[in-house]
Amino acid sequence: MKKLVVHPVQRLQGTLAVPGDKSISHRAVMMASLAYGATRVTHFLPSADCLSTIGIFKSMGVKIRQSGERVTIVGKGLNSLKPPKKALDAGNSGTTARILLGLLAGQPFTSRLTGDKYLKRRPMRRVVKPLAQMGARITGPEDANLLPLKIETRKLKGITYQLPVASAQVKSALLMAGLFAEGETKVVEPIPTRDHTERMFKAFNIPIAQRGDGISVRGPVLPFKGQKIRVPGDISSAAFFIVAGLIVSHSRIVLRNVGLNPTRTGILDVLQSMGAHIDVSHHKVHGGAEPMGDLTVAFSRLKGVEVGGDITPRMIDEFPILAVAATQAYGTTVVRGAAELRVKESDRILMMAVTLKKMGAKIEPTADGWIIQGPSSLKGCRLSSGGDHRVAMSLAVAGLAAHGPTTILDTENINTSFPGFEKLLQKASVP
Ligand code: S3P
Repeated sequence: MKKLVVHPVQRLQGTLAVPGDKSISHRAVMMASLAYGATRVTHFLPSADCLSTIGIFKSMGVKIRQSGERVTIVGKGLNSLKPPKKALDAGNSGTTARILLGLLAGQPFTSRLTGDKYLKRRPMRRVVKPLAQMGARITGPEDANLLPLKIETRKLKGITYQLPVASAQVKSALLMAGLFAEGETKVVEPIPTRDHTERMFKAFNIPIAQRGDGISVRGPVLPFKGQKIRVPGDISSAAFFIVAGLIVSHSRIVLRNVGLNPTRTGILDVLQSMGAHIDVSHHKVHGGAEPMGDLTVAFSRLKGVEVGGDITPRMIDEFPILAVAATQAYGTTVVRGAAELRVKESDRILMMAVTLKKMGAKIEPTADGWIIQGPSSLKGCRLSSGGDHRVAMSLAVAGLAAHGPTTILDTENINTSFPGFEKLLQKASVP
């Protein structure tokens, strides 16, 4: 079992670049695999999750060459995927599994989809149910809620579907199925979620309509061509360094080329409302029309805040690291409306409450968030990450601001989203 030992540091400094965005990297490979001709992706995230997506499309006959952050995908069109010889393995990646279900439902062959022990516990029904309404036949354990799932070939028809939970993965799965379905597939969102699939469709010139809270695609879509895609840095990865810079005194760091898609920047808004010094500069828009810019972060005196409502999907993956920031903020932080955290790679509400409490924080879990009193003096100790990459990295950041060394166990999954995390942390640390 891999572990990570973190020592307190004097400060963080320097100019850093975080790896490519995970959500965008997955989508680039998926869409390029359905396109005609070559797509070249730069600053791709070569993490275990994204490599699972590449592996899956390779096993369906797509030519993909990956070397670090550069990927070339040579697609042969929308209907060119070959039946896989064995079960497709999404590893730890919920995004791969859920979006792929939509794509596989539209194929003229039967396939099987599986994942690692963590992914096998995560709910798939949220995707299977609307896909069944489109005509898909998907079967598996617990009424097709859990992997492994079998996806049989059926003709799909477009539907209008109101999402019961705000989920970009479900929205994306339905839009993917919509590429192959007859007629219009429309997804109505209760609260806007990350729109990378919509932007990626546009980057590949696939017509998509966005009216009010509805997003629709009319299938089967016409052939589309390969593109050039530059993936911005992942704001979810940057968030660990942002919070580290804010809570370790005398720190000042610059994070270059971070993705600033407004459906992802909730963490910046919340931290700024807590008093964080974060300057945003050099806004750029690259292929796939994803905005990016540089962030300058300096140690700040933070104050407690109330978080909940429409901002939740805009920072859904950043709640564990927000909890760490809240332990160092003056006053009470209340997080509500984030029950989705219970069905992420681990039960993140529980994991963060148990681990931060062990470090000396005043944190109480609630059904859909936490109540955190700050500031607390944290002490280093031995903690389990529960196999969850974002819990592991959040605890590492807490360890930088703690007294004594912090040992985090079960950290191999950091590699699912942030290869090189430990190295980058060392680079930025002044011991
Ligand atoms: C993702 C959407 C989010 C997020 C996940 C990536 C995506 O999940 O938590 O890490 O790429 O679409 P939900 O859509 O289930 O909230």
